[in-house]
Amino acid sequence: MAPFPKTDDVWQARRQRTPARLKAPDPLAPAASNDTYVLGNDAVELNRLRLQHDLWRPTLQAALARAGLGPGERVIDLGAGPGFVAQDLARIVGPSGQVLGLEQNAAYVSHGQQLALEAALDHLDMRCHDLISDPLPPGPFDLVWCRWVAMFLPEVKPLLDRLACCLARGGQILFHEYVHWDTFGLHPQGKAIARFSQLVQRSFREAGGEPDINRRLPSLLAARGFAIEDLLPLPVVGRAGEWPARWMEMFVTLYGAKLQALGLWSPEEAEAARVEMEASRADPGSFWMGPTILEVRARRT
Ligand SMILES: C[S@@+](CC[C@H](N)C(=O)[O-])C[C@H]1O[C@@H](n2cnc3c(N)ncnc32)[C@H](O)[C@@H]1O
Repeated sequence: MAPFPKTDDVWQARRQRTPARLKAPDPLAPAASNDTYVLGNDAVELNRLRLQHDLWRPTLQAALARAGLGPGERVIDLGAGPGFVAQDLARIVGPSGQVLGLEQNAAYVSHGQQLALEAALDHLDMRCHDLISDPLPPGPFDLVWCRWVAMFLPEVKPLLDRLACCLARGGQILFHEYVHWDTFGLHPQGKAIARFSQLVQRSFREAGGEPDINRRLPSLLAARGFAIEDLLPLPVVGRAGEWPARWMEMFVTLYGAKLQALGLWSPEEAEAARVEMEASRADPGSFWMGPTILEVRARRT
């Protein structure tokens, strides 16, 4: 199996085990000029992604087990963020495999490189890459993983065309993207939360994305000759204090501030949502439902 070409200084530094040459991740570093990721890339968003990854890790691991990922395999992580999943993938494929995390944000790439360095995962590489315009490495790869990324892209067809070319015959592509954002809600209190859900979806669309992108991906994959092997809904429900509730409350608070900055959500609506969340904590029958993810696993035939 041919190694990925690695020519940049950062990678050389890692291979020579000279960590001092690797810059510490700078959460305030400027993003790539074409970075239009609507949730941003500051330290607060990085911490949200870390918590989100911890909460969803068992779901990730179950999906990778269904895909049969194992030692020696070569994997791409599309829109890898700060490298949390890429690190898990690298542990599964081991030193005889390879993991390439592609991410447009330079600070996240730096963070992922630092994680790889600290964990001595020499076979994990993070690269600055724009999924819209940059060519993919030739591969061949055994698995392409993509979670909460396709939903932010203004177009997915060119990326799917390129993915079909870099996958090995029999290689798999595995998406965890939303299929039904409208299930997001707090019950029975959440009128303001329901409005928040509509505004979130509107803001994602106005930024060029499609929140329910997994309604389209299976058909687009089938049209490119992929066999759809798995369509699995991944709903999430939780009562106050449980992890789904903590995850969704955090999102309402953090993204609510962005919606207010965009002028989409008023301070009065934000206050009404805060009151609903407080009331839910006093009601043992109250519960949150998340936007529903669809696991899509397709194989290149
Ligand atoms: C919600 S985060 C998900 C991160 C990671 N996949 C995970 O599951 O934790 C979305 C990520 O997609 C990246 N992204 C969005 N558009 C991109 C593009 N055109 N090219 C590369 N990365 C992109 C963002 O910078 C961000 O890191």
